[in-house]
Amino acid sequence: MLGSVLPFSEEAADRVSEYCETRSTPITDTLQKHWEYTRGKFSDADKMSSRLQGSWMVFTANDRKPKRVLEIGCFSGYSALAWYEGTKDTQAEIITLELSPKMIAASRKAFEEYGVEDRVKLVEGPADQTLKTLTGEFDLIFVDANKDGYEGYVKTILDQKLLSPNGIILCDNVFARGLTIGADCAPWVNDHVRPYWLGCGQALDGFNTRLVQDERVDVVVLPVFDGISQIRWRNV
Ligand SMILES: C[S@@+](CC[C@H](N)C(=O)[O-])C[C@H]1O[C@@H](n2cnc3c(N)ncnc32)[C@H](O)[C@@H]1O
Repeated sequence: MLGSVLPFSEEAADRVSEYCETRSTPITDTLQKHWEYTRGKFSDADKMSSRLQGSWMVFTANDRKPKRVLEIGCFSGYSALAWYEGTKDTQAEIITLELSPKMIAASRKAFEEYGVEDRVKLVEGPADQTLKTLTGEFDLIFVDANKDGYEGYVKTILDQKLLSPNGIILCDNVFARGLTIGADCAPWVNDHVRPYWLGCGQALDGFNTRLVQDERVDVVVLPVFDGISQIRWRNV
């Protein structure tokens, strides 16, 4: 195939998602339970990653065997629980950053309930400030907070060498529901969230466009989920 994305209709995309989910190793009962809880409890639950993305996180962590994981954007703790699950063999330290008092409380409750506080550390506050206080290297960094902050977060990570020599940065939602590519690319995005995602799309287009010109790194923008950018040091 010479192109990189199949031209699915909305209806077909739902079927493809379900097909992939039911043919992938399922998330654990804990992850499933927390995903369902978050979906039922929070009106903005669509900020949480999908079940399939959870399977991918566990798989990726198992595959890469990070010793330290940094997550920017914890929300209800679902993705941090996935990193925890995927690093049982390396017993990685997982640092997750969150700003919202409501989501800090929800995540702390989940981390206690699921007994993951031995390795998951939630750092409260604005991520740009917290990042400046971090030391050492991380092998897997997941960027998933405010979309207008991605450029600054990745710059700080690279400038402070927070990414280990063979580490990877994974930036989530770099398509902003499709609106990064163009306002006409996502007619299905509802009017009440459209202005928000259009703003995110503009910020992310600037981020994506400038990042690929940064000679310190190699970047691949993958058309999976809501767009994932993979970033690694060049020439290591
Ligand atoms: C998309 S959600 C994270 C979803 C989660 N990683 C998952 O996969 O389920 C983004 C989170 O980032 C948090 N956030 C937004 N701006 C932030 C900031 N400046 N510093 C830290 N966290 C922030 C939001 O409160 C929200 O909970």
